[in-house]
Amino acid sequence: MAEEKKLFKVTIDNITIEVEPGTSVLNAARKIGGDVTPPAMCYYSKLKGSGGKCRTCLIEVAAGSAVDPRPMPKLVASCRTNVMDGMVVKNITSEKVMDARAGVVEFLLINHPLDCPICDQAGECHLQDLGYEHGKEGTRYEFKRRTFELEDIGPYIQLHMTRCILCYRCTYVADQLTDHRVHGILDRGDHSEISTYISKAIDNDFSGNMIDVCPVGALTDKTFRFKNRVWFTKPVDAHRDCSTCCGKVTLWQRGDDVLRVTARKDEWGEVQSYDNKPGWICNTCRFDKKKTSDWVIDGLSNINRHSVIAQNKYPGLEMPKETITEVMGGKNPKLLMDIHDISGVNDPGVDLSLVNGAATSKTFEHNK
Ligand code: SF4
Ligand code: FES
Repeated sequence: MAEEKKLFKVTIDNITIEVEPGTSVLNAARKIGGDVTPPAMCYYSKLKGSGGKCRTCLIEVAAGSAVDPRPMPKLVASCRTNVMDGMVVKNITSEKVMDARAGVVEFLLINHPLDCPICDQAGECHLQDLGYEHGKEGTRYEFKRRTFELEDIGPYIQLHMTRCILCYRCTYVADQLTDHRVHGILDRGDHSEISTYISKAIDNDFSGNMIDVCPVGALTDKTFRFKNRVWFTKPVDAHRDCSTCCGKVTLWQRGDDVLRVTARKDEWGEVQSYDNKPGWICNTCRFDKKKTSDWVIDGLSNINRHSVIAQNKYPGLEMPKETITEVMGGKNPKLLMDIHDISGVNDPGVDLSLVNGAATSKTFEHNK
C-alpha cells in the first residue's frame, strides 16, 4: 500500500488548513481564498521562477513551526516562503502587514503614472485594485516620475515603459513559451527598463501572452488599444480547434464585434489551466480571429462580481415570465396608458433631434 503523504498544518489569519510540504504560504492562502490571500503582482503560478520582486505579498509569520514556534523577525514574501508544519501566519490580521503593504503600494506608485482614465488596462489592472485596497491618499515622493517614449515591440504589442513595475513576468513568458527571447530588463536601479535588443521585434507564436501576464498597462494589445473601455465590453468564453494552442479564449465583445481576444483567466488573474497545463493561447487565435463566426461560443464568462467589468452582466440570468398580457386577457400592456396622451414632453409632433440646444417648455407650446 502506498505510504500516506504527511501534510503540513498551517494557520493563516486564524484559519487552519493542511497542505503538502513544499507549498508556499501564498498558495496555501489561495486554497483558503478571499481576503486571506495576499495580493501578488509578480508571482504567477504558471511561470517558473516568478515571484520575489514586488513585495506586495508580504506576510507576518507569528510562529515558524510546531518544532520551533519562534516568530520570524521580519515580514517575509509569501510567494517565496514555504509552509512548515504548525506555522502561524498573519495577513489581514496583522497591522504590520497592512502598514507595509501601504508602503509597497506607495513605492510602486513612485514612478507609475496615474493615467487610469486613458489606460487600456483600467478596470482589470492589479495595481489599480491594489491602490484602492491598500494605498494611501498621498505620496511623500517629491521628484518627477521617470518617463519613456512609447515603444513598438513587434507588430502586435505596444510597450508603455512608464507604466512598468518591473515584475519580470513578461520576460519569463518569453523565456518559457517562445523559441527565443529578444527582450529583457536592461540597465540597473532607477535606470532599469524593459526593452528589446536593438532592432529586434517580438514576433513569435506565443508572444501575445506577455500582454495577459502584465499586471499593469505597460504591455497592451495594439489591435485593441483605445478601442473601448473594458467595462463596456461583454466577455464571452469561446473555443475553436487550434493546432497550435488550446484554443480556449475569452472574446471581449461590443454588440457582435469582437474587439479583443485573451486567454481565459482564473480568480487570481492568471491563465486558466486545462488538464494541469496552462491555457496559453497563440497569436493566431488572439490577433487574427476577430469574428464571432471564427468561434464556438460557450457562454458568458464568469467575472468576479466585485470587478467593474461584471457590472450589468448576469451569467445564467433567467428573465421572469411576462404575465401582464396574460392578466390583461391578451391585450398589449402599452394599451394601458399611451404616454403621448398624458405628457406633452412626449409630443410626437416634436422632433427632439431638430431642436437647437436643450428642449424647454417653449418647445411644446404649439400644442396649447
Ligand atoms: S512590462 Fe508588464 S509584465 Fe513586463 S516587467 Fe513590466 S509590468 Fe511586468
Ligand atoms: S508576489 Fe511575492 S514578491 Fe511579488
